[in-house]
Amino acid sequence: MLRFPKTLENDPKYLKNKEKMNVVILAAGMGKRMRSELPKVLHPIAGKPMLGHVLDRARSLAPKRLVVVYGHGGEQVPTRMAAPDIAWARQEPQLGTGHAVMQAAPLLDDSVPTLILYGDVPLTTADTLARLCAAARPAADGSHGEQLAILTVVLDDPSGYGRIVRENGRITRIVEQKDADAATLAIREINTGILVVPTAPLRRWLGQLSNRNAQGEYYLTDVIASAVADGMPVVSVHPGADWETLGVNSKVQLAQLERIHQGNLAHALLENGVTLIDPARIDVRGQLSCGRDVAIDVNCVFEGEVSLADGVSIGANCVLRDAVIEAGAQILPFTHIEGARVGPLARIGPYARLRPGTVLGAEVHVGNFVELKNAQLDTQAKANHLAYVGDAVVGKRVNIGAGTITCNYDGANKYQTVIEDDAFIGSDTQLVAPVTVGRGATLGAGTTLTRDAPAGKLTISRARQTTLDKWQRPVKKPKG
Ligand code: UD1
Ligand code: CA
Repeated sequence: MLRFPKTLENDPKYLKNKEKMNVVILAAGMGKRMRSELPKVLHPIAGKPMLGHVLDRARSLAPKRLVVVYGHGGEQVPTRMAAPDIAWARQEPQLGTGHAVMQAAPLLDDSVPTLILYGDVPLTTADTLARLCAAARPAADGSHGEQLAILTVVLDDPSGYGRIVRENGRITRIVEQKDADAATLAIREINTGILVVPTAPLRRWLGQLSNRNAQGEYYLTDVIASAVADGMPVVSVHPGADWETLGVNSKVQLAQLERIHQGNLAHALLENGVTLIDPARIDVRGQLSCGRDVAIDVNCVFEGEVSLADGVSIGANCVLRDAVIEAGAQILPFTHIEGARVGPLARIGPYARLRPGTVLGAEVHVGNFVELKNAQLDTQAKANHLAYVGDAVVGKRVNIGAGTITCNYDGANKYQTVIEDDAFIGSDTQLVAPVTVGRGATLGAGTTLTRDAPAGKLTISRARQTTLDKWQRPVKKPKG
């Protein structure tokens, strides 16, 4: 079974880089243009905070130290993203990217270089970061020692970014937009902000930063000129795709990155043989695993961990969260599944709702407006229309008629209903739990079952039908 999105965590190509760097993630900025109380890096892409994506990518490199610089939004970020492998450095007030890295500096290991990432740039791939780190390492043939490596891109419209200034092809410094003259503004190669820098000299260069510039900030980018002055080579690496370096400053950009990310996930599904009727109309917010010959119709949302086995089809407008769908099962349109397992060749929906704890056997049929919660339905059981089955164990080949309700809740406690193999539950039946319907029993339509129904017999509790021959329909009295 294939897993999406793929992670490189276990890829041998990258394991050799283990424990070879510090990672610092800058996440103290304020994100004013998000117009939100939530700190910017906690806004989700594919259901996960942006910072979570950056942390995933950082962890794929197995860093020696993982430091997150936080500040705006107070303790919300470290509280929400707490993990034993993260060291938190508070930056208050926020005086620029260089000042941010200064806060992390005491937590870094000098024996390995430092990779700087941004908490609001969530889509950089592990492959690009691995190439950047490789560029900073001393050459195997001894032709150069440690280098400072910057991730750069060439943009048609470079406005807003720091410009990469080169002399005779070599990078000499980075100039921020607000400090740039006309000639510098014309440079189209820009600083993405992501870079790898040797740690011991970084400390020294950070100590030399000044805030005498257009923004009155301590610019991390000024370490480039210091490196050049100290004779350290500065090199650039380009990402696999420009979108890897896009940052989020507004809800517009957040939505754009969400689409790019979803497009990438859909593309990977297609590449692996999954049929998507429209790759622009699927949303994966978690881990979706698919077997062979899986088909997914439009507007489906997959959350948490979902696995679809061989030959599964998902109809339009379904939402599946933490679900396992076994081979050949059909999920028909507008079905909602959460915390449930659906057996092979089952047919669910349209308009079915499976809630947590639901486990369905092979060839089970669940039809429209049926809600199941914590219910186990064995092979070939059917509940085809309008039913609520909760806290129930249902045997093989049981037929649950339209309008059946398990009355599992007395307002204080929940009770179980057991329906044994081959029972037939007539329409509009209430099963007042705890109650058991014996093997092969039949319940007449409209029964309110308050005591166990014996196996193999008809049990019925409705009033006997009578007809009143003399009865007359009332007529309206004349007015006045
Ligand atoms: C920065 C770079 C610029 C680059 C651009 C790419 C500097 C001086 N400039 O500019 O060359 O082209 O990114 O997007 O580095 N942050 C903190 N604390 C601070 C300031 C920023 O943690 O005091 C964090 C922000 O949360 C953000 C990142 O650093 O994640 C970048 O900050 P931002 O203000 O967006 O930098 P730019 O001015 O855009
Ligand atoms: Ca920015």
